[in-house]
Amino acid sequence: MDLDGLDPHRIPRHVACVMDGNGRWATKQGLPRTEGHRAGEEALFDAAQGALELGIPYFTVYAFSTENWRRPGEEVRFLLNVIADQLLTRRRDDLHALGVRIRFIGRRDWRVPRWVLKRMDEAARLTERNTAMTLTVAFNYGGRAEIVDAVRALVEEGVPARKIDEKAIARHLYDPSIPDPDLVIRTSGEYRISNFLIWELAYSELVFTDVLWPDFRRENLREAVREFQARDRRFGNTDSRRGPD
Ligand code: FPP
Repeated sequence: MDLDGLDPHRIPRHVACVMDGNGRWATKQGLPRTEGHRAGEEALFDAAQGALELGIPYFTVYAFSTENWRRPGEEVRFLLNVIADQLLTRRRDDLHALGVRIRFIGRRDWRVPRWVLKRMDEAARLTERNTAMTLTVAFNYGGRAEIVDAVRALVEEGVPARKIDEKAIARHLYDPSIPDPDLVIRTSGEYRISNFLIWELAYSELVFTDVLWPDFRRENLREAVREFQARDRRFGNTDSRRGPD
């Protein structure tokens, strides 16, 4: 496959995206904000296919944060419907056919409607044996909440304070089987992390682009990977060939 000049030996193992700018994209076109989320879902599907083409094993997207419940009820309902009806029903089968394993990270608390949880579980179960790529959807997700939940789990297990180290916390994150992201992309010209994977991205390369998420396509993903490959990752060492400690 033509990798567009990218180095096939330095494809990031895990790419995570903050899909920002849906509202601004819609407003610019004179459309209601919700149309931006609909278009954002299309963009996500294209980017996921692009990740598959590049052979990226783990692709994670920030779909709904613990703070997003504060948005107007109509927008929250619309987002839940886009995620549950489009991603978890229609796209689910397409992604399954492509060999994509779908997983979720985030708090499964009372705010998430039961029917959404049910669809999430169904999609995860249907696709659990797929091996082409893991698409992780961060839903009702907050990075600080994830660390709090990990520490709570350790305390509940009765782990003594001296045994609580970085490895112990990492093992209690929402999905410890997912490697830390090598590359985090944020769209829409905002230079923030917004509580996304804050534990996991300690050594990630960050790429920011002005493209609004609904306009993001697989070419933009390639561009970000190109930028990633041009960087020199040292992980606090002097030798870029060594990994983090
Ligand atoms: C940020 O744009 C985006 C979100 C809060 C949600 C991301 C959701 C999607 C891309 C929809 C589909 C998702 C899935 C998983 C199917 P914003 O509304 O904050 O935009 P703004 O900053 O321009 O207001």
